[in-house]
Amino acid sequence: MHLSDETIRTHGLADSFIPPFPHRYVEKLSVWKRIRLGSKNLLATFRVYDFQNKRIKQSFLGHTLHVCNQPEGVRETLHQQAAVFEKKSPVQRHTLQPLLGDGLFVSDGRTWAERRKIVAPIVHGRRVDVFAPIMSDVAAEWCEHWTRAGDGATLDVLFEMGELTAEIISRTIFGAKLGRENTHEIIAGFAAYQKSIQVLDWLTLLDLPDWLPRFRSRRTLRARDQVHRVIDAIITRFKSGDVDERAVIRSLFEARDAEGAPLTMTAIRNEAIVIFMAGHETTANTLAWAFYLISQSPRVREKLFAEVDAVLGGRTPTLDDVESLPFTRAVIEETLRLYPPVPLLGRTATGKGTLLGNSVEPGDLLIVAPWLLQRNKDVWSLPDHFVPERFVPGLAPRPNKYANIPFASGPRVCPGMVFALTEAVICLAALAQKFDVRLAEGVTVEADCRLTLRPTSPLKMTIHHRATAHERSVA
Ligand code: HEM
Repeated sequence: MHLSDETIRTHGLADSFIPPFPHRYVEKLSVWKRIRLGSKNLLATFRVYDFQNKRIKQSFLGHTLHVCNQPEGVRETLHQQAAVFEKKSPVQRHTLQPLLGDGLFVSDGRTWAERRKIVAPIVHGRRVDVFAPIMSDVAAEWCEHWTRAGDGATLDVLFEMGELTAEIISRTIFGAKLGRENTHEIIAGFAAYQKSIQVLDWLTLLDLPDWLPRFRSRRTLRARDQVHRVIDAIITRFKSGDVDERAVIRSLFEARDAEGAPLTMTAIRNEAIVIFMAGHETTANTLAWAFYLISQSPRVREKLFAEVDAVLGGRTPTLDDVESLPFTRAVIEETLRLYPPVPLLGRTATGKGTLLGNSVEPGDLLIVAPWLLQRNKDVWSLPDHFVPERFVPGLAPRPNKYANIPFASGPRVCPGMVFALTEAVICLAALAQKFDVRLAEGVTVEADCRLTLRPTSPLKMTIHHRATAHERSVA
C-alpha cells in the first residue's frame, strides 16, 4: 500500500474529504438495468465488487467484454499486446468518427501509426516552452475577468474552466489572433455535438457491423458542420498567410509523411479538431473538479494557499515556477486519480490475445478502467479520499505506473500529458493565489460520465478575493 500508516497518522489524512461517486450496487445487475444506468452515466454500472475484482469477464448482447482492473493487466493490454488491442471500442468510434473522421484519436492501423508520428511531436512536452506563455497570459486574463465579476460573485466554474482551456488550446492551435476570434464558435459546436450524440447506440450494442449506416440526428450533423466550417475558414485564412509563426496549425501544414507527402486539407482539419477536443474538455474538467475538491478540504486549501503565496508573491506563474509548486501539482494529480476525465479506455481485439491468463478472442471488447484501478483498495490506501499528499515527493513513493493512468499508457499514451499538467498547474496556481473559490449554498455535486467524466453542470461556486502574502506584507 503506498501511503504508510505513519504518514496517514502524522499528517492527519484519515479524515480527509470523501467526494461523491455514483451509487455502487451490491446486487447483480441485469443487462437491461446496466444499459439503462449506462445510458445516463457510464460509471453507474459498476458494483462494489467490481472495484476489488482484478478482471471482469461478461457476455453482453453477443459481445464478450473484459474489464481490466489490475496494474499487471494494464501492462499486458496497453504495452505488451498493444498492437492486437490498438483499435478503439465501437462506442468511441461511432460517437466520434462523424466529427473527427480519420483523426488520431479514433484511427488505428497504418493511418494511426503515420498520424501519431506527425501529431505527437507537435504537442509533445519538449515544446511546452512554446505553449506555456499562452497559458500564463490566459490565466492572467482570467484573474482580471474574475476580479471584474466582483467579490462574492457566483459563477459556473465548469463553464468558466471550459472557456479558459478552450482559449488556451485555440490560441495554441490557431495562433493568438485567429484563436481569439474563433474560440466561441468552436466550443459552441463541440457542446452542441456532445449534447446531440447518443453514447450507447443500439446498432453498436447489438454488435452490428461497422459498415451499416448509423442514424445521425440532424442536430449531430448540424453541430459537426458548424465545427468543420469554422476550422475550414481558419485553414483558408492560414493559407493566405494570416497566422502566427508558432501555431500548431503551421506545424501540421509543414509536416511530411514517410514518403515526403504533406497532409491533405481534410487530415489537417481532422487533426486540428482532435487536438482541440482532446486538449480542451479534459483539462477543463480537471480544473473544475480541483476547485470543488479544494473547497471541501480546509487542510488542502491552507497548504495550497501557503505554497502559491510563498512561491509567486503576487506574480503570474510561468513555466519556470511549475517545478517549485509541488503541492499544486499534487492537487492536480490527486484530482486526476479520483476523477480521470477519460475513465474508461475501450479497445477492440483485432487478433487473439490474453488478459491475466485468460484468452481474448478477435472481436472481444476490452475496457481498461482508470475509474476502477485508481480507486482499487488493493493498490491505494484511502482509495476514495481526497489526499493530494500521496503525490508529494518525499511523503510517499511514486504510485505504480500501471496503477495510475489518467493519460493512458503505452503507444497510445496521451501526447499532451506535459502540456495538460503544465496548463493545469499554471491556471490553478494563478487563480488560487487571487481567489478563494467556495461551493455555492445548496449545490449538490455528482460525477457525470458521458464522453468524459465531469461534475454536474452548472457547478455554481462563489469567488472571493484573497490578499496574497505579498499584499499582506505591503499592507
Ligand atoms: C488533463 C488533461 C488530459 C487528459 C486526462 C488526457 C487523457 C488522454 C487519454 C486517456 C488518452 C488516450 C485515450 C485512449 O487511448 O483511449 C488521450 C489521447 C490523446 N490526447 Fe490527451 N488528455 C489530456 C489533455 C490533452 C491535451 C492538452 C492534448 C493536446 C494538446 C491532448 C492530446 C491527445 C491526443 C492527440 C490523443 C490521441 C493519441 C492517440 O490516439 O495516439 N490531450 N488523452
